[in-house]
Amino acid sequence: MTNTLLDTMVIRPVRDDEVREMISLWSEAGLPTKPAGRDTLENLRVQLNAAPDLIIGAFDGSRMVGVIMGSDDGRKGWVNRLAVAPDMRRTGVAKTLLNRCEDALRSRGRQIICTLIEEYNEASKELFVSMGYKREDDIIYYTKRDADDV
Ligand SMILES: CC(C)(COP(=O)(O)OP(=O)(O)OC[C@H]1O[C@@H](n2cnc3c(N)ncnc32)[C@H](O)[C@@H]1OP(=O)(O)O)[C@@H](O)C(=O)NCCC(=O)NCCS
Repeated sequence: MTNTLLDTMVIRPVRDDEVREMISLWSEAGLPTKPAGRDTLENLRVQLNAAPDLIIGAFDGSRMVGVIMGSDDGRKGWVNRLAVAPDMRRTGVAKTLLNRCEDALRSRGRQIICTLIEEYNEASKELFVSMGYKREDDIIYYTKRDADDV
């Protein structure tokens, strides 16, 4: 039987010295980042060190091929910034990362896990529905930003 990527892939928390690689992967995956706001190296390192169990990478050898950033607000668990390298998609990397992040959030006592998805993002909508998430059309997302680039 041939090995699939999932057989050899390592899933583990992202290390402090891998934050730059995580940002590059977000860019490669087409996710917008806020380098002058919440995505400065310093902010990301603070977030990672505050909850190292929730920022999880998928590694093919030494290469980070997927990443997920969970967060825990004490009431709900959140899934953010899930990204898989374009050449590694449709092999189950996102599903594996999402399962691992959900487990970490449940270990913290969270019983509801949420995510925000932009309407155009069909791949992401399909993924979350396939993982059992329910679309909540009666909720509208409001934000109050101290600047445009935060
Ligand atoms: C969305 C994304 C993370 C999915 O990663 P992935 O590793 O390819 O996803 P998986 O292989 O685990 O797919 C699991 C399931 O999700 C759904 N899915 C994933 N990509 C899909 C696509 N392009 N179109 C339709 N369904 C898709 C399918 O149901 C799939 O199961 P299947 O392959 O057995 O049909 C990836 O496309 C990505 O990085 N996109 C850019 C960044 C992004 O939009 N992130 C999400 C922010 S909310």
